Order: sequence, then structure tokens, then C-alpha cells
Amino acid sequence: MSTVISGNFIPAFFPSQLKRYSAHCLFRTRPFTSPVFKTSLAVKVRAFSTAVAETKPTEPAVGEKEDSGSCNISLACPICYDPLTKTGDSALYVGSTAGSNLQCNTCKKTYVGNETHLDLVASSGSKQYDESMPMATELFRTPLVSFLYERGWRQNFIFGGFPGPEKEFDLAKNYLKPVIDGNIIDASCASGLFSRLFAKSGLFSHVVALDYSENMMRQCYEFIEKEENFPKEKVTLVRADISRLPFKSSSVDAVHAGAALHCWPSPSTAVAEISRVLRPGGVFVATTYILDGPFSFVPFLRNFRERIKAISGSHAFLSERELEEICRACGLVGFTCIRNGLFVMISARKPSS
Ligand SMILES: C[S@@+](CC[C@H](N)C(=O)[O-])C[C@H]1O[C@@H](n2cnc3c(N)ncnc32)[C@H](O)[C@@H]1O
Repeated sequence: MSTVISGNFIPAFFPSQLKRYSAHCLFRTRPFTSPVFKTSLAVKVRAFSTAVAETKPTEPAVGEKEDSGSCNISLACPICYDPLTKTGDSALYVGSTAGSNLQCNTCKKTYVGNETHLDLVASSGSKQYDESMPMATELFRTPLVSFLYERGWRQNFIFGGFPGPEKEFDLAKNYLKPVIDGNIIDASCASGLFSRLFAKSGLFSHVVALDYSENMMRQCYEFIEKEENFPKEKVTLVRADISRLPFKSSSVDAVHAGAALHCWPSPSTAVAEISRVLRPGGVFVATTYILDGPFSFVPFLRNFRERIKAISGSHAFLSERELEEICRACGLVGFTCIRNGLFVMISARKPSS
């Protein structure tokens, strides 16, 4: 499928190279038309009317929803994936998670919520054991980087070709048209810049802002608290590992992951998890850094990518073919992408049954 990136972007390659290296991507420069848990735990939210979709979706329409009038995200135990049940009355959206207890009746494990988020990592509750992840993950757990993330750090991504959150949001929305009104996981949300945009857009019935970093969760909470008239009841903050998502299989309409795939310890394990939780027809949209085409033949750059991986554990600079392969290998179809310099936004979907 050919995909357009437009606006004032600089094409990454010349057309002849594009034909050879980037079968799925076509570059053009024209303005972009942007287009309560019950006892078994599910965030139930009412659907609401939306005014979107100026253009027809480029993706094939997804399969019929089971219940178009409502949607739910069913939280599950990250150890056994059986449903979690909630004890107590507190709701599980922003500002209401303190003191929540979520019980896995199979593992007999209790997960708790604090002031800012629900802690749904497998190791939660451990007193002595604190798991250390690769640097690409650990860096974002630090209070300093979490604080700086939306206060300058993220803005630097424009040097790699990232168009900036608003434009990225518009591009993502275009891919997400088939699942508008559904629920969405903003995976590896950091301080929640996209989670807030998703929630405020009113296009989704519920947003789960998910990240592994406790400090990012705190920042996310604080940014939301600062906003006036923010629809808090539409957002749940969940600390979780992308490789062990705490959701029931086939329960999620959309997963968005901005600038995160290269930070994940194993992109294929993460995409496999995303594929597991997506319902048939569900959509995955992600951005990352890409490097391929003529550049991949430069020995220095090849070594550079390997060095980065060895030092930081980061999987930055995969090629378009590798990204497509990861999606296909994990059962996602209809891979398509938009590129600009080192920036790529990819999308694929779970086949409709
Ligand atoms: C560069 S930030 C991207 C944030 C945001 N989505 C954006 O578009 O700017 C990458 C995020 O991935 C998160 N991350 C890294 N490893 C993770 C893992 N194993 N599970 C969940 N999130 C992870 C980090 O905590 C960090 O917040």
C-alpha cells in the first residue's frame, strides 16, 4: 500500500531509490489533511458521538465490533493473563487508583494502585527484588529524564525527522480511523503527551496510558492534574512491561506506541504481546527511528547500529523490511508506513476473523 507523507518534510530518498528500497512508502509534499470495573475488571465507558474522518481510511475497514455502543478494556494478571477482580469501590481512572486492590484468583496475587497509577508488572509487590532492564528502558525510569522528557528532551526528536507531537497525532489518527470510538492503549506513553491528546480528542472510549517507568507515570499524573476540564474518567494509568501486557487477549481496539519500539528490550516479544491483546481488526500504530536504503550498506553505519544495541540495548535503526517482518511474524497484516528522514510511523492490524 502506498502511503503519503506530506507537509514540509524532506524526502528521505530520491524516487528511484524509493522504488528499490521502500515499496510501501511514497513521499509527496502537499499539505496534510488531517484528517468501573465490574467484579471482573473492565473499564466500562459509554461511547460518545465523534466528528472525525474527513477522508476515507486508507486501511481496510475492520471487522464488526461485538458491541458498538460500549467498549471495555479487561485488565488481566500479567503472570497468567486471567482476569483481575477488584476489591473495594474505588474506580480505576486518574486520581482514583489510590488504595485499589486487584486480585488474580488463579495466582492468588494482589496488585495495588497508588495515588498515580496501577502497578501491573509481574514483579510488583517484591520488597527486595528490583528488576533492572537494559539502559534504553532504565534511562526513562530516572526522575531526571522523566522530568525533562516533555520539557525539552522530546522536542529534540525533530532532528531525526519526527514531525512533532501534534503532527504525529494527526498522522496516527488517520491510521486509527477504523477503530475510532474503541479503546486505546498508549503503550510506553512516558509522561503521557499522546495519552492526553487521545483523551482530549474524544475519539476513543477509554485510554490506558501505560509505561514501565514509575517516574514517567508520576509525570503523566501530574500533567493530567494540571489540565483544566481534563476527562480523567476516560484515562487509566497503568505501569506495565510491554512484554507482559496486563490485558485479556483480543480485548483492545488500538495500540499506539510513540517513539518507543527502539526502547523495548525485545521488539518482537512486544509486538507479539500487542498482537495478542488486539481484537480482530484492531490497529497497531507506532513510530521509531529507521535506517535503511543506501545507508544500510555503509559499514560504519551498520557497526554504529550494532554498537548502540550492545551499549544501550536499543533497537534503533531497524529497516523498513525488518519492521514489516516483525509485524508479520507476530500475526499482524496490512503493514504500511510513513517516513521522513530517520522517522517512521508504521501501522498494521490484527486480521479480522
Ligand atoms: C522515548 S519514550 C517515548 C514516549 C512517548 N510515547 C513519545 O512518543 O514521546 C520511550 C518510553 O518507552 C518506555 N519503555 C521502555 N521500555 C519499556 C518496557 N519494557 N515496557 C513499557 N515501556 C517501556 C520508557 O519508559 C519511555 O517512557
